Amino acid sequence: SKFDLVIVNGTVVTASDISSCCIGIKDEKIRALAQSFTDDEIAGAEVIDAEGAYVMPGGIDAHVHLCQDLKTGPHGLGGECADNFETGSRSAIAGGTTTVITFATQTRAEEDRSLIKVVEAYNARAEATGSYADYGFHIIIVRNDADVLENELPVLIQDWGISSCKLFMTYETQRLTDSQLLDVMFAARKNAITTMIHAENGDMIEWLTDKLEGKGMVAPFYHALSRPPLVEGEATNRAIALAQLIQNPILFVHVGSALGAANVRKAQTMGLPVYAETCPQYFNLTWEDLKRFHSPTCFENSKMICSPPPPPDNSDQEDLFTGLHNGTFTIYSSDHCPFRYDHPHGKPTGVLEDEASMHGESACTGHNIQDLLSRKEGAFRFIPNGIPGVETRLPLLYTGALAAGRITPQKFVELTSTNPAKLYGLYPRKGALMPGSDADLVIWHPEKKFQPFRLTNSQLHHNVDYTPYEGQEFINWPRYTILRGKVVWANGEIKGKPRDGKYQKRGPSQLSHGLPGHDRDPHTVAAWLYK
Ligand code: URP
Ligand code: ZN
Ligand code: ZN
Ligand code: ZN
Repeated sequence: SKFDLVIVNGTVVTASDISSCCIGIKDEKIRALAQSFTDDEIAGAEVIDAEGAYVMPGGIDAHVHLCQDLKTGPHGLGGECADNFETGSRSAIAGGTTTVITFATQTRAEEDRSLIKVVEAYNARAEATGSYADYGFHIIIVRNDADVLENELPVLIQDWGISSCKLFMTYETQRLTDSQLLDVMFAARKNAITTMIHAENGDMIEWLTDKLEGKGMVAPFYHALSRPPLVEGEATNRAIALAQLIQNPILFVHVGSALGAANVRKAQTMGLPVYAETCPQYFNLTWEDLKRFHSPTCFENSKMICSPPPPPDNSDQEDLFTGLHNGTFTIYSSDHCPFRYDHPHGKPTGVLEDEASMHGESACTGHNIQDLLSRKEGAFRFIPNGIPGVETRLPLLYTGALAAGRITPQKFVELTSTNPAKLYGLYPRKGALMPGSDADLVIWHPEKKFQPFRLTNSQLHHNVDYTPYEGQEFINWPRYTILRGKVVWANGEIKGKPRDGKYQKRGPSQLSHGLPGHDRDPHTVAAWLYK
């Protein structure tokens, strides 16, 4: 037969267009878009009737933490990553995401000096369970060993197709000094690697945390006070200056403040290759949510702790919406960073080793702040940062932005699929609906036929025991998720298998590769530094 699978009656959306058409799929690829197919063309193919609903390229979530090292966690806090490749990718496909890019993490331990060994070890974790979704890796670099950068970055590109690294400006176990940032950015630039930056001023956070602890302000809510918007404001400005100095393309991950967004906007107006990512938590949570559970003995709001924290109020969210709309934000990712709530290595307890003593206590759902205070001088300092959201990413943006008329369907596709594919070198194999593209699709419910519902965690497919969006209303949800021509999620059921997902080698960024103009400007360092 001509096609294996045909999607009919879809409202097909790409980053540029919307049209009512049919999609023909064969051997994992999109083969044809047409106003209609003849009976002959459809003969022998499975047919899905989209009933007028949106049909989009499958979601690409370029910021997902899975299987991240227990000893260091994402920030050396000792939290245990609740999702592995199997459970995390299962959650992804149930939310319309067909590709996830996760983080292989170097540590400062001597055995983690080699980035290649780090990636090999991380890959073994992915292969141990398999993945329901296609997947790739970013590399987190936490040291500036000259030999490693020189010898290994080219190998990461060549052998692994890893064309992006993440650097930290905060967290004791991960942060780089300014000169170390320059070292790694310089090496990244020479290898056409896109540098992702976690921009928070680590000294400000440390200083404020000490002051808060001195006043006994250690409950989870105060985590937000230890990271006011200025923390991101300063760090984004500094990183922009560092990147400008050596003409290096950068992408700010998880921008959560109006101040951060304004700094990015200004740099872009100057013509610098500065990109930014934002995340659902900054549109759907505020300090009010952190305050909701605020009491000296309650850890409920540790469920909302992430860095940067959600913005103080809705006025910041208005500015962030503007940034989605006007292009300040290039991509919209989940920053899925899963910790369990009721678990000794999860949210409330962080580093505590004594599991038995943590269960069955009276305060809140079983964790007593006095217990924590008696052992540690602070509390929120020891709560692992990060919240789950790989499955709710697209539905939250659908409900809060697309259906609310705040962004167009094309913008939705651009932010959630096409731009991440371009930024991280997957385009047009992914993020596009062109003949020859992978047949990765998300098909929504026809809006008029879908009954809005309030989310509860048991409906999700991650391995986390809560969602920060418990009780929130959703007006649509992916009806079908299709991975390279295979239906992996349909009408509320997982149809895929953990071996469906394939590792994705990536090329250089198609957004930031090359710097037209800058190299030729005799006043920039690029004129001599890269000779
Ligand atoms: O709080 C957060 N965002 N945790 C995840 C790790 C990171 O910094 O992205
Ligand atoms: Zn980060
Ligand atoms: Zn993250
Ligand atoms: Zn417990």
